Amino acid sequence: MDKYKQLEEFERQAELGGGEARLERQHAAGKLTARERIDLFFDPGTFQEVDKLVTHRCRDFGMAEQVVPGDGVVAGRGRVEGRLAYAFAQDFTVFGGSLSETNAAKIVKVMDLAMESGVPVVGLNDSGGARIQEGVLSLGGYADIFLRNTLASGVVPQISAIMGPCAGGAVYSPAITDFTVMVDKTSYMFITGPEVIKTVTLEDVTKEELGGAMTHNAKSGVAHFLVPDDQECLALIRALLGYLPANNLDDAPLGADTDPIDREVVALDDLIPQNPNQPYDMRDVIRRIVDQGDWLEVHEHFARNILIGFARLGGQSVGIVANQPAHLAGTLDIDASVKAARFVRFCDAFNIPLVTLEDVPGFLPGTKQEFGGIIRHGAKLLFAFAEATVPKVTVITRKAYGGAYCVMASKHIRTDVNLAWPTAEIAVMGPEGAVNILYRRELEAADDPEMLRTEKIVEFKEKLANPFVAAGRGFIDEVIQPRHTRTKLIAALRSLAGKRAKNPPKKHGNIPL
Ligand code: HXC
Repeated sequence: MDKYKQLEEFERQAELGGGEARLERQHAAGKLTARERIDLFFDPGTFQEVDKLVTHRCRDFGMAEQVVPGDGVVAGRGRVEGRLAYAFAQDFTVFGGSLSETNAAKIVKVMDLAMESGVPVVGLNDSGGARIQEGVLSLGGYADIFLRNTLASGVVPQISAIMGPCAGGAVYSPAITDFTVMVDKTSYMFITGPEVIKTVTLEDVTKEELGGAMTHNAKSGVAHFLVPDDQECLALIRALLGYLPANNLDDAPLGADTDPIDREVVALDDLIPQNPNQPYDMRDVIRRIVDQGDWLEVHEHFARNILIGFARLGGQSVGIVANQPAHLAGTLDIDASVKAARFVRFCDAFNIPLVTLEDVPGFLPGTKQEFGGIIRHGAKLLFAFAEATVPKVTVITRKAYGGAYCVMASKHIRTDVNLAWPTAEIAVMGPEGAVNILYRRELEAADDPEMLRTEKIVEFKEKLANPFVAAGRGFIDEVIQPRHTRTKLIAALRSLAGKRAKNPPKKHGNIPL
């Protein structure tokens, strides 16, 4: 055959993947094909494929007769809003998207290229796992990918989408990457499936309950985003990349300040309820202060007592960490600490300034938390905030009690600018708890204990539960009117644009894992 014709034929076969019938099955399952996903992900016409003609080398189990150019993964580079990125998409129509020796080598190749060029790498996962026919060669391929994931961590952003099966050890690549997106109803992740679980523990559980998108978004925290379909999944990853620098040596993206930087937000002045035990939604604060009210919430369904996500302030991409009084009164528990700690470390690794909004009554009490290790898990968040060298700005809106005051990016752990609203209460504990401990004997002996308690609570609030003691010490740089929060944050961030802070030289710290 003429060489040009031969090339055309190979390319046709590569693009056909596992053939028409399997492509139709993919669509019938509500999924796009690997090539359709790649086309939607990158800016039109920018995808440049690598290793389109790679084939597997397996000659056992009748594999010699089943050779598809590309071998079940589409890989290469392209542009996202004009910025370079690498991506690979597993093709479920070719041996169930299973990972062979050569298929793994393609993934490793794009990961290495992404590292050399200092640009993000995105994995679109849809695979039956290790290619059974190739045995240890396939397992080795996985380990090669895990090593790259680990070495690339903190160097280039890594994002995983789960768009079909992802089972067994294969889950550990997404688990190491920075963010995992799962498509509702068509994706699942687990170490061992329902049948094995039934045999070993006699538990009955469906695939969806065990490892579906909502399970990992709300219960396990393995996934950071839940999306309804493939299209939304790819759009979300494109939006997420917009907040991130290309690599750890680049600054976080700085766009145009299209929302006035001196915009006052009068509605914030009476957002805090009169009753300190009444909740409010911290998302209302976030949406009102960030550019155009746009923010990309991460881990929305997990540990809802803390909010994390990306937004822009005066065009500057920032990471926001905020207590959420509307859930568990905004207390810090194990899940909230771990959720926020990993986010803080991501932002720090990629030079994204951190804005902390604080309203925290303390750590969640209880045996479940203590036995679960709240001490070491809470320490993760403290460690993460303390070691972070990016610009850090904190606003205390209401409560900042006890150890949680120290943890939530306090001045003492190297936060650059600490602001407080006049409604802030900064103390070792809430007034009721403090009075019950300090005046126990007096209250027991009093003729009217309730009147005495009320008097003491008022006295405690006036003396200690306010922002002025901390401001008098310089632990709070400025007590501000809530309406000025946006303006003050942007001014602080701009003043910190040239910040160059360092940690002592070391191989790495020993964060309490
Ligand atoms: C080779 C595979 C395959 C695999 C699927 N196929 N998984 N081929 N190796 N691991 C092939 C099937 O033979 C079939 O080929 C096609 O892909 C589609 O599979 P179906 O079973 O028809 O699809 P479906 O009903 O949707 O079920 C998908 C599935 C199931 C749930 C993923 O295929 C399955 O259970 N596969 C095995 C999963 C597994 O145990 N993998 C190893 C996990 S351990 P035809 O020709 O009929 O289209 C692992 C270790 C990782 O991965 C190591 C890291 C340390």
